[in-house]
Amino acid sequence: MNESNDSFRILGISGSLRRGSFNTALLRTAGELAPEGVDVILFDGLRDIPPYDEDLRQEGPQPAVEKLRDAIRRADAVLFATPEYNHGLPGVLKNAIDWVSRPIGENPLQNKPTAIMGASGGVMGTVRAQQQLREVLQGFTPVLHTPEVLVSSAAGRFDDQGALTDGPTREFVQTLVSGLVDWAEQLKPREADEAAAAG
Ligand code: FNR
Repeated sequence: MNESNDSFRILGISGSLRRGSFNTALLRTAGELAPEGVDVILFDGLRDIPPYDEDLRQEGPQPAVEKLRDAIRRADAVLFATPEYNHGLPGVLKNAIDWVSRPIGENPLQNKPTAIMGASGGVMGTVRAQQQLREVLQGFTPVLHTPEVLVSSAAGRFDDQGALTDGPTREFVQTLVSGLVDWAEQLKPREADEAAAAG
C-alpha cells in the first residue's frame, strides 16, 4: 500500500499471523476501497512481539514493541481485523495491546480513533472476538460503533489470491473505512480544543 506525506494514515493491525489470513486480506481490501488521500498501512511485526513480561519491560524498550508503538503514533486512526480463536480474541493481538498500554502515560492508543472488523471460518463472523476487543480498547480509546463488519464463512468470500470477491462485504468494508476517517476528522478539532483549554 502506498504512503504519502500528507495523506490520512490508517494503521491496519491483523490479529492473524498466517500468510493466507482472511483478516489480513480484509485490511488489504480496506486499503483498496479507502477514499482518495487515505492510506491503509499494514503492520507486519506482531509475530516479533514477545509475551508480555513486566520484568522484560523494566529492562528497557523492546524493539518490536517500539516499532508498533511508533506505527500507532504516526497513524491518524487504527483499524483492527481480528480472527476469533475459541470464542475469543487471539492472544497475539491482546499481547500486543498489553505491551503498548504500558507505561500508562505513554500508551499510543490513548484517544486514538479505532475501528474493528473480523473474518472467521464459522457463522458468527468473529462477533465474540470483536466484543472482547472492543471492551479492551474502550479502556483507553474510542471505538467506532457502526457498521459492524462480521465476515462469516470467510473461505467462500475470497478468491484463491486472497481478494475479497463478495460484493456486500466489500460495501461494508468501504463504509467502515470512510466512517472511520470521517469520525477521526470530527474528533480532531475537539482534541485541539482540549489541548488549548489544558494550557
Ligand atoms: C479457529 N476458528 C474459529 N472460528 C470461529 O468462527 N470461531 C472460533 O471460535 C474459532 N476458533 C478457532 C481457534 C483456533 C485456534 C483456530 C486456529 C481457528 C477458525 C478461524 O475462524 C479461521 O481459521 C480463520 O480463517 C482465522 O482467521 P485468518 O487466519 O484467516 O485471518
